[in-house]
Amino acid sequence: MAAQGRAPAPPAETRMSTTRRILVTSALPYANGPIHVGHLVEYVQTDIWARFQRMRGHECYYVCADDAHGTPIMLRAEQEGITPEELIERVGREHRADFADFRIGFDNYHTTHSPENRELATLIYERLKAGGHITTRVIRQAWDPEREIFLPDRYIRGECPRCGAPDQYGDACEACGATYTPEELRNPRSAISGAKPVERESLHYFFRLADFEPMLREWTRAGHLQPEVANKLDEWFAAGLKEWDISRDAPYFGFEIPNAPGKYFYVWMDAPVGYMASFKNLCARTGLDFDEWWGPDSETELYHFIGKDIIYFHALFWPAMLHGAGFRTPSAVWAHGFLTVDGQKMSKSRGTFIRARTYLDHLDPEWLRYYFAAKLGPGVEDIDLNLDDFVQRVNSDLVGKVVNIASRCAGFITKRFGGRLASALERPALHERFLAAGASIAEAYERREYARAVREIMALADEANRYIDERKPWFLAREAGREAEVQAVCTMGLDLFRILMGYLKPVLPRVAGDAEAFLRCPPLTWVNIGEPLLDHTVAPYRPLLTRVERKAVDAMLADARADLEREAAPPPAAAPGGEPLAPEITIEDFQKVDLRVARIVAAEAVEGADRLLRLTLDLGGPRRTVLAGIRQAYEPEALVGRLTVMVANLKPRKMRFGVSEGMVLAAGPGGRELWLIAPDEGAEPGMRVK
Ligand code: MSP
Ligand code: ZN
Repeated sequence: MAAQGRAPAPPAETRMSTTRRILVTSALPYANGPIHVGHLVEYVQTDIWARFQRMRGHECYYVCADDAHGTPIMLRAEQEGITPEELIERVGREHRADFADFRIGFDNYHTTHSPENRELATLIYERLKAGGHITTRVIRQAWDPEREIFLPDRYIRGECPRCGAPDQYGDACEACGATYTPEELRNPRSAISGAKPVERESLHYFFRLADFEPMLREWTRAGHLQPEVANKLDEWFAAGLKEWDISRDAPYFGFEIPNAPGKYFYVWMDAPVGYMASFKNLCARTGLDFDEWWGPDSETELYHFIGKDIIYFHALFWPAMLHGAGFRTPSAVWAHGFLTVDGQKMSKSRGTFIRARTYLDHLDPEWLRYYFAAKLGPGVEDIDLNLDDFVQRVNSDLVGKVVNIASRCAGFITKRFGGRLASALERPALHERFLAAGASIAEAYERREYARAVREIMALADEANRYIDERKPWFLAREAGREAEVQAVCTMGLDLFRILMGYLKPVLPRVAGDAEAFLRCPPLTWVNIGEPLLDHTVAPYRPLLTRVERKAVDAMLADARADLEREAAPPPAAAPGGEPLAPEITIEDFQKVDLRVARIVAAEAVEGADRLLRLTLDLGGPRRTVLAGIRQAYEPEALVGRLTVMVANLKPRKMRFGVSEGMVLAAGPGGRELWLIAPDEGAEPGMRVK
């Protein structure tokens, strides 16, 4: 077998001594929204890298978690009428399912709202404090007097101070692009309650980032960052490292700061600690030694994959926090660019916001993994999901080139040889060339140059197809006495296919797994990939991958748009009937309202008021006149004689068209859509409603 050109596997000892111990992470997705295809760029990029390292025989763990804290999560839960714990539980479950279906192979997926994270965040804080790196200072901040909460900039809306556009955020104008402080907004309003914010003072806790400037300057230039990111950091150094506000006041969903009642860790303080917490949770399950990985003298490797929007947190705050608290710093932080869809920023209004689940409902996850791989480089450039290109690439590369090799060869092997492969490779030199290409492909994966890896693999696939085209097994099969050649060519073809599948396995775990099952070979690794299958029986072939149809893509897009429309409608639990719930009242409050059954004895239009009817109501003796805004919904004549319910103890109100002595109860959004509340038969005018 070795004579047929098996790549010499390194002896076991050398392999062991070069086994790397690697921990990789992806940024922790917020627990208040669904995973979308933009997120997936990162999880797919990281997963490919982790799978590649494992295939090389290294010890590699990939951990992640939900980022569960912060104001948006707290408010979202409130809006849905559930606790934050319930919200993060549910969203966490959805995130895990999405990731599992995209075959993101986490070794552990945890949450920042966990005991491990509380313990580690507290420990880091206390060590930083002991080192003199925490200070406190009173700051002034916008306060919502109605909801009694400090307002993050995002939750203040008003008119742009430059162009006057209404309903802009507290930090920037979407209409003219101006940036400003919330104080500069005209007519500012709390986005939570609509109240006018007031300024209020509060004591905040700060992390003294500048204490770490020398360490950070050195660290950022020591090969831990991509060159373009290191350059960005120089700009930040030049601008000066400011103290970082790490506390938030109650009410807040997070961890309370020790010895600081009512003060919580800002979500971004405990979020990166979530990497450690998730790993610690993995240690508890598997017996790994946490300190070997996070201790100051750790010899293991630690890599964080992140998006370019969160570089500041990962390349400055995080290494400084780790260093200041006596932990190891990352081996590298790798940032990627943002995903656009058909050249457009992913946006809800444009309908280019595609959830992971919507994609999965229509399309095969391996297609997207492949497409991202084919486009990903080591830098921070944005990448575009061009849907026509997506269809074309997947069909021509994966189906037309790679899988095609197997389907061309498998039929003959199954039908004519009972699945039996020949006992020698027909072109050992070709096999060798395929193996030799593995070094460059591995280097490309290692450096996150996936687009190059894919290009080189596809060049090999072209070569394999050329070999088959040249040997024409379908032609040989029709000639007498050339049976052995057919078997030899198809054996050779399947050998090349096996090597290609090995190289693609980090990208296409499902297809590679199915290919292994078809070939009946041990799980492919970089170490065993040189071993051809000879005198070996393969399983009957079943198609490994289907073509993408443009119709399926269009159906997905239509669904994505429908998702957004559904989302635009208020969530049912939060807003029965489409209106937000009024603030809570007590039973005593309720008992102040005297509701009575009333008979409408007369109804007439009010001159000059196109919404009002003047109703005369009989309360079983006393009569009341009520001006009711139901004219668009009812013809006056139709109301005479009907029973309804009224608020009988409402203080009479003088209106432009007369005095109204109470209110009738009606439900609905208004206008034509309004329905009077009527008691069941048997109720008598004057009865109190309880
Ligand atoms: N919770 C923080 C990260 C904390 S890490 C200690 C966060 N969450 S996020 O859900 O907004 O984003 C998670 C990751 O997905 C980030 O790295 C972010 O850059 C990435 N992406 C989010 N939208 C993206 C695109 N449209 N394209 C590519 N990556 C994107 O940030
Ligand atoms: Zn503006």
